[in-house]
Amino acid sequence: MLTEKKISYTGVFDRYRSLLNIPAHTQRVSLLEGNTPLIPLPRLAAELGGGFDLWAKFEGMNPTGSFKDRGMTVAVGEAVGRGSRAIICASTGNTAASAAAYGAAAGLRVVVLIPQGKVAAGKLAGAVAYGAEVIQIDGSFDDALNLVVEISQRQPILLVNSLNPYRLEGQKTAAFEICDTLGEAPDWLCLPVGNAGNITAYWMGFQQYHELQKTKLPQILGVQAAGAAPLVLGHPVDYPETVATAIRIGRPARGEQALTAAQESNGRIIAVSDDEILDMQRRLAGNGVWVEPASAAGLAGLKRELQEQRIDVRGKRVVAVCTGHGLKDPEIIARSMQPPLQLPPTADALETYLQKGME
Ligand code: F0G
Repeated sequence: MLTEKKISYTGVFDRYRSLLNIPAHTQRVSLLEGNTPLIPLPRLAAELGGGFDLWAKFEGMNPTGSFKDRGMTVAVGEAVGRGSRAIICASTGNTAASAAAYGAAAGLRVVVLIPQGKVAAGKLAGAVAYGAEVIQIDGSFDDALNLVVEISQRQPILLVNSLNPYRLEGQKTAAFEICDTLGEAPDWLCLPVGNAGNITAYWMGFQQYHELQKTKLPQILGVQAAGAAPLVLGHPVDYPETVATAIRIGRPARGEQALTAAQESNGRIIAVSDDEILDMQRRLAGNGVWVEPASAAGLAGLKRELQEQRIDVRGKRVVAVCTGHGLKDPEIIARSMQPPLQLPPTADALETYLQKGME
């Protein structure tokens, strides 16, 4: 007879329930998200000049391959608790896949709006596979967000973009996990910034933990893509463009809060080029961590700040949030890297090839 084995980890809702500011009606809708690895990257730290400790918080290890699952478990659980039968979001892809999965787990109708032609294949496939109703619009993420905000006010369908406060409640658990693993907050936290929900959530989480447990506060380096950098430019961008489609956003919904987080933490928000993002994606993969382009932006920003000597991390601890898995965006690899070599199926051909590399 099978004996029931005790399950040790059951998701962020169970683990951090008492620290979440959520209504009592919130249900547990979990796919065991969170508890993601904090991966040490000593070789990459050395490549960037050395003398500091570097970790990647690899959020690509969540159930749908991005950090969005932390927020979605709570937002969908709250939606179920209040009796919603349907949820809606605009997305550059990851939110869509996550809403689709958690909506499916809860048996809800899920509608997602995405900018046509600008969503990576792994994200679109996820949203479809989990059974969401996927609607493409001839417009940007920002246009899609305006639409879903308006329609959720007119119709009984609940918005699960990060304007929904319970998304941030869930996402702040990543800050708790980092403090729990390191014993306190890192000196610096680097992360990509798109709609600016995540940077806001991290800052909430670090502040809350510090108040409760004196875990200190990190300085935050938020990083946008140069072609989609409204928070760096100081004005909205009407036609954002970047290879990092996840953060192709010109009017971040939580832009003000992102600027506050950067300022209060004594950090800043900067922009890096697409080339710098792709270069860092390759470097990370060269250290065994394959992330989607947007997820390399935080570290690309760190590299830039180090190069220009605007930041001193000697003897410090730095955590880079790697928000989504490389599997999300396979086309970018096909476009930015060499296709695999083709050889005849003979040992001689293989031997000749191998010897070349040994000369
Ligand atoms: N990294 C990835 C992989 C993302 O998908 C996003 C946002 C971000 C970073 C930026 O986070 O918006 O909280 O500042 N993706 C949203 C989406 C917009 O629709 O999936 P943010």
